Amino acid sequence: MKIIVAKDYEELSKKAADIIAQEIKTKSNPILGLATGSTPIGTYKELVNLHREEDLDFSKVETFNLDEYYGLDSTHEQSYSYFMKKNLFNNVNINMNNTHIPNGLTEDIEKECKDYDALIEKKGGIDLQLLGIGVNGHIGFNEPGEELSTGTHLVDLETNTIKANSRFFDSIEEVPKKAITMGLASIMKSKRILLLANGENKKEIISKIIDGKVSTNVPASILQVHSNVTIIIDKEIAEYL
Ligand code: GLP
Repeated sequence: MKIIVAKDYEELSKKAADIIAQEIKTKSNPILGLATGSTPIGTYKELVNLHREEDLDFSKVETFNLDEYYGLDSTHEQSYSYFMKKNLFNNVNINMNNTHIPNGLTEDIEKECKDYDALIEKKGGIDLQLLGIGVNGHIGFNEPGEELSTGTHLVDLETNTIKANSRFFDSIEEVPKKAITMGLASIMKSKRILLLANGENKKEIISKIIDGKVSTNVPASILQVHSNVTIIIDKEIAEYL
């Protein structure tokens, strides 16, 4: 694992955007795996700046998002579909047909998940997967447990995850209890993984995934066995390690 320390969130976001921009510039059809949550918002902002100021071209970029809340319409302000449009897709020259997010309103979960995995495979897998991390070590919405799922699947969110994500909703009751998430296989098959973490509340989990044992109780610890992982952290976390 390669660890990069940024002095603050702004620098972390710039470094992450530069790595993604490099991928976009050097591949003819870059396939990006994208994440939501508050952590990558600054990175998306920087990518929009690079598009506006340096003509970073998204026309050949194809994207697969990690996850989506189950039961939320894509127009719901807290859906990840809405998040991606607001923070990135509406602000760059990406072809929306090349953006993929699990359909949270699907009536056939099994088919939705199978089709999502098949499409990623068909495109040749993900070149660069961007990840945030939950305080319990989840990536995407792969929650800790005795077993981890390999493919895209429907997941019951942990009470702590619901609590953590309730800050974006008017009340905790409004947070969906389930989500559709890419499994660990699609993430681990990505050619390169870029994980971002900043702030006090992520220091313990980052220390666990870097130095701890690989365990299904800390889903992100599996990244230790991937050959091309870069983790960008801020000084606050680095001082704790
Ligand atoms: C959600 C997302 C994850 C994200 C996590 C952390 O649960 N499904 O992909 O990494 O939140 O979010 P934040 O970056 O806001 O701490």
